[in-house]
Amino acid sequence: MSNLSIESLATFCKKKGFVYQNSEIYNSIAGFFDYGPYGVDLKNNIKQEWWKYHVTSRPDIVGIDGSIITHPKVWEASGHAANFADIMLTCKKCKTKIRADHFIEDKLKIPADGMSPEEINTLINKNNLKCPSCKDDFEKVSHFNLMFSTNVGPVASKDSQTFLRPETAQVIFTNFKLVTENARLKLPFGIAQIGKAFRNEISPRDFLFRAREFEQMEIEYFIHPEKSDECPFLSTMLKHKVLVYSEEMQKKKQKPAQLSMKECLDKKIIKTPWHAYFLALEHQWFISLGANKDNFRIRQHVQTEKSHYALDTWDLEYQFPFGWKELQGLANRTDFDLQQHMKHSKQDLTLFDEEQKKKIVPNVVCEPSLGVGRAFLVFMFDAYTDDKKRGNIVLKLHPKLAPVKAAVLPLVNKLDKDARKVFDDLIKSFPCTYDKPGSVGRRYARADELGIPYCITFDFDSKTDKAVTIRDRDSTKQVRVKIIDLPDTLFSLLYNDIKFEKAGKPVKTS
Ligand code: GAP
Repeated sequence: MSNLSIESLATFCKKKGFVYQNSEIYNSIAGFFDYGPYGVDLKNNIKQEWWKYHVTSRPDIVGIDGSIITHPKVWEASGHAANFADIMLTCKKCKTKIRADHFIEDKLKIPADGMSPEEINTLINKNNLKCPSCKDDFEKVSHFNLMFSTNVGPVASKDSQTFLRPETAQVIFTNFKLVTENARLKLPFGIAQIGKAFRNEISPRDFLFRAREFEQMEIEYFIHPEKSDECPFLSTMLKHKVLVYSEEMQKKKQKPAQLSMKECLDKKIIKTPWHAYFLALEHQWFISLGANKDNFRIRQHVQTEKSHYALDTWDLEYQFPFGWKELQGLANRTDFDLQQHMKHSKQDLTLFDEEQKKKIVPNVVCEPSLGVGRAFLVFMFDAYTDDKKRGNIVLKLHPKLAPVKAAVLPLVNKLDKDARKVFDDLIKSFPCTYDKPGSVGRRYARADELGIPYCITFDFDSKTDKAVTIRDRDSTKQVRVKIIDLPDTLFSLLYNDIKFEKAGKPVKTS
């Protein structure tokens, strides 16, 4: 676990141009954030890598990009209008409003997700819990629906009311038939989407972790309802190991155990091969982009915390400085959503099974759903290194995620013109920066703090040997490379994972 607090990470993100509080000059509203010049590229790189890994590099998953505002009936059918609510505490005197389960968890150090209003009222009374602002009593708890409402058109009335989507998933279900036909999909297949979601969180907190406006990367993976045991990709993930915390382990107060996917399936800890496959796949995605595999575990939802649509849910959790928390939800949504939309829209969303000669309603055997902001936090926490020897922060972001790939530095001012020529050529191929003022050491430190993987120095010899020195951010080792070979060498370093020492002629440094 990183020993950096979430507050310190937020301060670092602001200082270095990654993330700001929205409308800070007007004192901001909690839960809204703006990404700065480095944050926007890091966020885009995360989304791009996710899309490549899950959509463009495999034939069974296609993508869509749906609208944020949809017909209000979508939310009646999905159950969000009736069920997408948190339990809220309101102070009798000062009217402060607090999310009840978080308040109970903070005060009593017990899990409270999914507790009923009665249970919460009993705990508040039994433990004599008071309003944290004015120490007065609470009113009886109430439900608060998290959807942001808006009106479409010039007249604000009940008829023109609709909602900003609280999850991207529903647009996948409402477009299910069209996408299936257009992309000529055959089961099993997935439909993926990256886009904004909005939740009017009662108490947004922990920086990007719980925001009111955020982005989700979601897949609905559909299978034949009678074929939940047939996952053709499982063999690639059977040996994958992860820390596992099942519902039974939680109930029996046992410790999580390090298990392979094969062990989880043999012991029936994970019910379907599909769920095991996707849990391993998602853990693997984070590891492939430099996250520390030991900071993750998978935890099964206990009965009371499951969403209204879920048969079985596992979370990929990450050990944040504020505890083990949900990074990504992976729910088995069954045919709940397609059935609901068929009922409410009166449209046929079935597929025809050619073998069995009958209509079937596909099951969503797994819905991996990940918040971009939470992934952003994970990569930042695992990259942030306070290097005492260097005397500066080194942001060890995976080169594929790094917002800026290289910094070009003239050794001294009088080499400015020649160094700038190298930069002008390189920026046509890679996002890079040019840094002139200050000592080379200071400029290396600036690059380290922005996570720039490579610094390219144009020195006195460069004019004659037509070569430059590349310095590796993580090891500080250096190699000498011909200027003409620079784009190819950088490409191999960034995207082909070649060993740094093999990228050029090693340079001895003191
Ligand atoms: N379609 C399923 C769904 O939305 P969820 O568990 O409510 O399930 C999925 O949300 C993911 O979206 C979470 O695991 C988290 O990564 C992200 N997420 C949810 N609420 C969030 C919030 N308020 N702020 C930031 N990310 C959030």
